[in-house]
Amino acid sequence: MSQGGKVEIVQTTPYEGQKPGTSGLRKKVKVFTQPNYTENFVQCTLDANGAALDGSTLVVGGDGRFYCKEAAELIVRIAAANGVSKLLVGQNGILSTPAVSSLIRHNKALGGIVLTASHNPGGPENDFGIKFNTENGGPAPDAFTNHIHKLSTEIKSYKLVRGLQIDIGKVGETSYTVDGKPFVVEVIDSVANYVRHMEQIFDFGKLRDFVSGKSNGKPLKMRIDSMNGVTGAYVREIFLNRLGAAEASVVHTTPLPDFGGLHPDPNLTYAKDLVDTVAKGDYDIGAAFDGDGDRNMIIGSKAFFVTPSDSLAVIAHYLEVIPYFQKNGVHGFARSMPTASAVDLVGKKLGKEVFEVPTGWKYFGNLMDVGRLCLCGEESFGTGSDHIREKDGIWAVLAWISVMQHTGKSIEDILKQHWSVYGRNYFTRYDYEECDLEPCNEMMATMEKNITAADFAGKSFSSGGKTYKVKQADNFNYTDPVDKSVATKQGLRIVFEDGSRIVMRLSGTGSSGATVRLYIDSYEKENVLGQASVMLKPLIDIALEISQLPKFTGRTAPTVIT
Ligand code: G1P
Ligand code: ZN
Repeated sequence: MSQGGKVEIVQTTPYEGQKPGTSGLRKKVKVFTQPNYTENFVQCTLDANGAALDGSTLVVGGDGRFYCKEAAELIVRIAAANGVSKLLVGQNGILSTPAVSSLIRHNKALGGIVLTASHNPGGPENDFGIKFNTENGGPAPDAFTNHIHKLSTEIKSYKLVRGLQIDIGKVGETSYTVDGKPFVVEVIDSVANYVRHMEQIFDFGKLRDFVSGKSNGKPLKMRIDSMNGVTGAYVREIFLNRLGAAEASVVHTTPLPDFGGLHPDPNLTYAKDLVDTVAKGDYDIGAAFDGDGDRNMIIGSKAFFVTPSDSLAVIAHYLEVIPYFQKNGVHGFARSMPTASAVDLVGKKLGKEVFEVPTGWKYFGNLMDVGRLCLCGEESFGTGSDHIREKDGIWAVLAWISVMQHTGKSIEDILKQHWSVYGRNYFTRYDYEECDLEPCNEMMATMEKNITAADFAGKSFSSGGKTYKVKQADNFNYTDPVDKSVATKQGLRIVFEDGSRIVMRLSGTGSSGATVRLYIDSYEKENVLGQASVMLKPLIDIALEISQLPKFTGRTAPTVIT
């Protein structure tokens, strides 16, 4: 069927603040639904591609949150008017972030538009987001997003094919003629490509025998919680249909526009239902994902918590049990700067390069593209590999189940064994959400001034019977080893003589106010079985003293502790 349409040029004026943050533009739904707000941003995103846009293929999909479907349809109409040849759109506008990355790579697309505010709550009163991923499948780099922002301050008009008849509810291909030029929309099954991709990476036969209990007479008892986010359909297909898990192994698998009121962030606070259930019940593994499926949390029996920094290190240690790495080899590892350095120790032992990059997945892409990095992670529940250019929650769970299958050990025992070899990085993150921006900026500026003063290095701080001597302190700067681009002011960091660290930065993903993140990392070679909150208390007190956080924010306790 071929239908027609005419390009219309609509006059508009710029909106302030269309500046993508750590991972795309995130604002309240009410902001995105203002007249021309989404249209402006989509037009600028397309324009930032320059001449390459003409005749290109783009992928479009999101996490199913409120306004996702409307935005996807709007993008089809705007893309049609801007010379794009083909759009691959997830059915009903639904695609997880890892699935978008995978589709871009498999279809050699110019890029993709991801409709998500990730782990931020959804619904008419909450957040929406738009992110552009480039042709390597990863989030657009800073230079690209700065360009989008610049265009957004100058925009005078956008292009649209207003009357285009589209139905993204039905899988299938529709051809159009727009001002005499062909334009194709292919609505695709949201999960099929991704599931195939996972089957190429992992040994599904082996995992099925392990999960169903065929290999050791004991089915794996798991609770996989999709938190009403986009992973529901993927989880059902992979864990139930392909790996033979029992129906009760998966919960909250219907994607809801408001995530059923849940805050779809897989951490100890927001995935409380999972933690409580696994703590009480008889489970071998518990896992949760965020709204768009790129984050993961792993817990073991009795809700034994695996910090994302440790998760990365353990997977690194066992990487070669996964067929993909047997085939492609193990290249370097990387972590974001605030992530505890457990993986560095594995890299050192295995003789692999280890990179420390700023917060945000986009900084891993270049290293992967040149073959220097195959596994990376962030303390913020992000784990992934070079199979795509996004972190990947379901991939991480499959990696963990592969490690469990290989070792025949419980998650707790895998960790204890790891610590006995490498020592342990105790780690915690305190989040102070929705603080006033002004005093937070002042706090950061004051702290930067204090810690970069000439006499700060060498100073000692004591608390709870422990003394830490400052080795180095700065505002983290990063030069990309591949394209030499520089990212400045990526977080305040104090490194002590024994390797312990205090890191503080302001979130770049919030939609209003300021969120302060305080990261505490302390390494112990021998004393590896302590309780993190007890072990880290002295350093936390020192961090609060140096930053004067309670004074600036008026907060005496964090909103979330991880
Ligand atoms: C947060 C995390 C960061 C992650 C990003 C996107 O960013 O801290 O590691 O890459 O979300 O999921 P932040 O809000 O800290 O800027
Ligand atoms: Zn996410």
